[in-house]
Amino acid sequence: MDSQIIFKQSRMEVHNHMSDTYREEIAKDVFRGLTAPRKFIPSKYFYDARGSELFDQICSLPEYYPTRTEMAILRHAAPAIMGSFEQGDIVELGSGANLKIRMLLDAAPTEHLSQLRYVPVDVSTSALVDASEELLTLYPDLEVLGIVADFTLHLDKIPSDRPRLLLFLGSTIGNFSDAQRHHFLRSAAFTMNPRDRFLIGFDMLKPAETLEAAYNDSVGITSRFNKNVLHVLNRELKANFDPSDFEHLAFFNQEKQRVEMHLQARHSLEVMVDDLGVTVELEKNETIHTEICGKFSKSGVEKLADESGLKISRWFFDTDEWFSLAELTLKERR
Ligand code: SAH
Ligand code: AVI
Repeated sequence: MDSQIIFKQSRMEVHNHMSDTYREEIAKDVFRGLTAPRKFIPSKYFYDARGSELFDQICSLPEYYPTRTEMAILRHAAPAIMGSFEQGDIVELGSGANLKIRMLLDAAPTEHLSQLRYVPVDVSTSALVDASEELLTLYPDLEVLGIVADFTLHLDKIPSDRPRLLLFLGSTIGNFSDAQRHHFLRSAAFTMNPRDRFLIGFDMLKPAETLEAAYNDSVGITSRFNKNVLHVLNRELKANFDPSDFEHLAFFNQEKQRVEMHLQARHSLEVMVDDLGVTVELEKNETIHTEICGKFSKSGVEKLADESGLKISRWFFDTDEWFSLAELTLKERR
């Protein structure tokens, strides 16, 4: 089966492209990650219902500057971004909660709203359905097509027959490795038409103390978010991780220009993952790498865009240049 309609009402439909493939994907990814010489778990598995809730809490932590900084940029830039967009699809990749889209919709001229469709795309069904329902109550003229899908695998499932404003906010693009980032952007560019725009949030390089504080908050929410992935593995793959055996570790890797999150074993231990038929051994202090949070320079973003067949048509920053929103369009094809 290609996709399942999991929600339908007059102005909202939600399609699930993952119901058949999720179990296969998680089993393959976790087997690869936990049997590798340096263990890792892909960060997309943070986001079950609890993980999405914890991420929402992270967004309002005082140390976590990216959300409020990007929202301030959006508030300023929204009229310029939305003014000329009369009809088409606003496609948000990794949509999560709906705070940021509201800033764009609020800036759209009222007569355009009934001509716009919002297309959130997320792996987290609960986050997507809850946020979409809430949005419909706020914007009675809006149409919503929710797509539960993995944006690393299913970009071709997103409609492209109308003009599109694609959004990839929050610097989620930083959660890819360099190779994944290039592959993702080239694939996205491949699905774009010359009239489409792609607005991407990039968290910029800044002093290591500020970056490290953002991922080591004083109330321990980020630690809970990090450990949530172990609960996901326990539930989905019948593993027997005890999260209290692990320490949350987050630090800035200067050479790779990224914050890394790990789970570090407090003592040597063994974990059984029943559905994979594997026993995983960890030595004391060994880590499981759970997230990459790449940080960017202006020249790095320009190079990335150029290598992906895209050009930056507009660029929006806060006054400290801590965060940026780059609007990308296709480079002319020769
Ligand atoms: N865009 C929001 C949320 C960022 S959190 C913001 O800026 O605040 C990252 C979001 O991406 C989560 O909602 C998560 O469920 C989703 N996500 C992570 N990996 C994904 C993947 N491979 N495919 C689709 N969604 C993904
Ligand atoms: C979703 N993503 C952009 C967040 C980030 O900052 O890389 C996820 C996160 N991890 C820890 N805190 C927030």
